[in-house]
Amino acid sequence: MRVANQYFRTIWVDDENLPDVHIIDQRFLPHQFKVEIISTYKQMAIAIKEMHLRGAGLIGVAGAFGVYLAYRDALTSNQTVNFVQKAISEILSTRPTAVNLKWAIGIVASKTDGNLTLEEKTRIALETAKRLADSDAENCRLIGENGLPLIEAISRNKKGDAVNILTHCNAGWLAFTDYGSALSPIYLAHRKGIRVHVWVDETRPRNQGAALTAWELLNEGVPHTLIADNTGGHLMQNGMVDLVITGADRIAANGDTANKIGTYLKALAAHDNGIPFYVAAPSSTFDFSLDSGMGKIPIEERAANEVRYVSGLYNGHLVDVLICPDNTPAVNYGFDVTPARLIAGFITEKGIVNPNSYAISNLLH
Ligand code: MRU
Repeated sequence: MRVANQYFRTIWVDDENLPDVHIIDQRFLPHQFKVEIISTYKQMAIAIKEMHLRGAGLIGVAGAFGVYLAYRDALTSNQTVNFVQKAISEILSTRPTAVNLKWAIGIVASKTDGNLTLEEKTRIALETAKRLADSDAENCRLIGENGLPLIEAISRNKKGDAVNILTHCNAGWLAFTDYGSALSPIYLAHRKGIRVHVWVDETRPRNQGAALTAWELLNEGVPHTLIADNTGGHLMQNGMVDLVITGADRIAANGDTANKIGTYLKALAAHDNGIPFYVAAPSSTFDFSLDSGMGKIPIEERAANEVRYVSGLYNGHLVDVLICPDNTPAVNYGFDVTPARLIAGFITEKGIVNPNSYAISNLLH
C-alpha cells in the first residue's frame, strides 16, 4: 500500500541480521504518520495491548514477531527457553478476541519446538514470522479478487451507477500486513474503474473508521463519506446502501462472527432491509474449536476511559476530551457477535463460503 507515494506494509524488518521490527504506529493516524521501532518482546506486547497496531490479521503477525523477539531477548540476555514460554503467555494475553494471535503464535511455537539451539530458534522464529507476514498480505489480495464479483454484479444491476458499500471499524490494510479484508475488494473494484462509494462508520469508542478507514480510502482516492455510528439504519431504509462488508476477529465453526462492537446492529439493519451483509476474513480468523460463537468467543473489555474521552486534533495538538460528567461510569466492550443467520457469506482467500458449519468446514478445514 502506498503512503505519499512510498510503498509500506504495516509491519516489517529491514535487514537479515536479527533485525528490529518496524510498525506503523496507528495511534497517531490520521494526523501524523509515525513508524515505531520495536526491539524487545515486552515492547511488542505493549504495542499490541495498547493498540499501537491493531486489527486481527496484524495482531497475529505482530504476535509472531513478538515470539522472535522473545527468542532474541533470551539469546542476548543468557536466558533459557523458559523465559520464552513466559513471554509467549504474556503476548497471548494482550488481546483476547482475535483468534489470529493464538493461531500465529502457535505456528511459530511449533516451528521452534524441539532440540535446537537458541540461535537456531531465533532464526527460525524470524523466518516464520516473515513468512506469515507475506501470506497474510497474499491472502488479503486473494480476498480482494474473490469479493470483486459481488461488487461487479451490483454495478451491472445499477447500470454503472456507484455501488454504495457500508463498512464498520477498519478492516483495511492497516488491520493486516497489506491490502486488508473488507476493503480489499473495494480497492480492487476502484482500480478496475468500477464506481464505488463507501459509507464509513466512525466506530466509537476508538474511531477506527473515522481515523483509519477514512485515511486509507483518501490515500487510495476511493469516494467515501464519514457517518456517525447510528446512521447506517437510516441509510439502509432509504435505499442508500447496496452492500455491507465488514471484517472479523473470530469466526466460530458455524459462522457466528465476532467483530468490532456495533457490527451486530449493522447486520440486523441490513437483514431487515434485505441488504447483503458479507464478512471478509482470511481462514486464520476461523476458530474450529468453537462450534458456535454466542457466549463462547471471549469479548475483550477495554478501559472505560476510551468511552468517556474522545481523542482528536485541537489547535495542532493531539488531545483527549472528556465528553461526559466527570464521574460518569462507563463500560467498554470491544466486540460483539453477529449470528451466522444474519450473514450472506464469508469472503475468504479460498473463495466465498456460505455461513454454515458444513460449507465452512468443506472449504477451509
Ligand atoms: O480493536 P481493533 O481495532 O483491533 O479491532 C479489530 C478490527 O480491526 C475490527 O474488528 C475489524 O473490523 C476486523 S478486521 C481485522
